[in-house]
Amino acid sequence: MKKLKVGIIGLGTVGTGVFNVLQEYNDIEIVKIAVKNINKPRNIKNLNSNILTDNAFEIVNNHEIDVVIEVAGGVNPAVDILKAAILNKKHIVTANKELLAKYGSELFKLARENNVIILYEAAVAGGIPIIMPIKTILCANKITKIAAILNGTTNYILTKMAEKELSYETALKQAQELGYAETDPTGDVEGFDAAYKLAVLSTISFNKKIDIKKIYREGITKITAQDIKSAKELGYRIKLIAMGQVLEDGKIDVRVHPMLVSKKHLLAKIDNATNSIMLTGYPVGNLVFTGAGAGAEPTASSVVGDILVLKANLNASDNPNPLPQAICNHNERANQIDIGDTYNEYYLSITASNSPGVIGIIGTICGKNNINISTIMQKGINTDNTAEIVVITEKSKESDVQNALNELIKSDSIQKIDNLLRVMN
Ligand SMILES: NC(=O)c1ccc[n+]([C@@H]2O[C@H](COP(=O)([O-])OP(=O)(O)OC[C@H]3O[C@@H](n4cnc5c(N)ncnc54)[C@H](OP(=O)(O)O)[C@@H]3O)[C@@H](O)[C@H]2O)c1
Repeated sequence: MKKLKVGIIGLGTVGTGVFNVLQEYNDIEIVKIAVKNINKPRNIKNLNSNILTDNAFEIVNNHEIDVVIEVAGGVNPAVDILKAAILNKKHIVTANKELLAKYGSELFKLARENNVIILYEAAVAGGIPIIMPIKTILCANKITKIAAILNGTTNYILTKMAEKELSYETALKQAQELGYAETDPTGDVEGFDAAYKLAVLSTISFNKKIDIKKIYREGITKITAQDIKSAKELGYRIKLIAMGQVLEDGKIDVRVHPMLVSKKHLLAKIDNATNSIMLTGYPVGNLVFTGAGAGAEPTASSVVGDILVLKANLNASDNPNPLPQAICNHNERANQIDIGDTYNEYYLSITASNSPGVIGIIGTICGKNNINISTIMQKGINTDNTAEIVVITEKSKESDVQNALNELIKSDSIQKIDNLLRVMN
């Protein structure tokens, strides 16, 4: 059997995991590894420092190398490096969701033109197999819905806020101390990471190009300990949900935002850094994929899995087009709807004056804007003579809810809209 020769770009968390797992395979040779800082001390068993380079183009231009494994991350210079690799007829395995969300169509087109394959199981939900199942054994399905927890950092923070009644700031600090959150947590806590993954996942699920710029995105930074407490009392957990659905008119609703998730829902039970993806399709029905969405070893499981699938296909024949099912060929753009046109149930938390008739004012403004209230709860009176009021609505149009908020805030009886969150039952 022919030895597969690979080059790895990136030797951080994922790259080191991949390097370690590949030590088990005598028929795979790591020819070169590119890093940013060649002088960085690396305590990695069996690593021959002679194969390190700080120039990734040495990998993509190396005639010996069959497969380029990109686990460096970011868009620049990754996009130029991978384009050069494809033009040099290298197959690609990547874990880079940001790159795929922003430049996927360009790279997949180039790959098709050059008869090479890009595999990216690790780019969505780390160790959970989801890309290959959708592209292969689930291909008989029309997938119409995705509801997922795709970011371990935010799920960890929200779990600790709920379990220990911590503020967002304290839970984030603890997550950073334990290595679950980066020093600059923006990519995770503002929902960018989940949105990149959702762009990739919904493109292959709905067979249409999803534009990352049109994905509505809201992070978890505004969630307060009080929101978590009120949600608990009402029978919900708060989770950062990545959702996508094909609507009856064929338009597509894709978004990432925190939601109150009913305690009866499977996603409400996914805690800590675990990821979970629920898919609804015809004819399969509902499916749930749960596991580790990050970490050196789970992510290496997906990266090395992709490498072995490629290897088996390249060995099986001299077919210049291995894995036809894995080719991404989405020419049609999705018609993505604006958040204002979506319908949701809502959780609304309001600070109001402790004055007679305030509940009536809220009810009147909601009614005027076509919003039916299903629950309204006044949570005692604060020392400053204000009252916290929590409202849960029936399904309403987002633009109507935004109009109602604008009216509420103008009312003399309303001090502040503390939060508006969507609800999933
Ligand atoms: N961490 C996870 O659990 C996880 C899970 C799924 C997917 N991913 C994705 O996997 C990728 C890597 O993530 P990571 O957590 O392993 O990142 P990381 O720990 O920050 O490692 C990045 C590696 O890339 C190297 N690098 C950076 N710029 C480079 C360049 N221009 N040329 C060559 N090497 C370069 C760095 O070199 P130095 O070592 O010299 O700094 C480092 O070894 C990202 O796309 C990420 O989104 C990560």
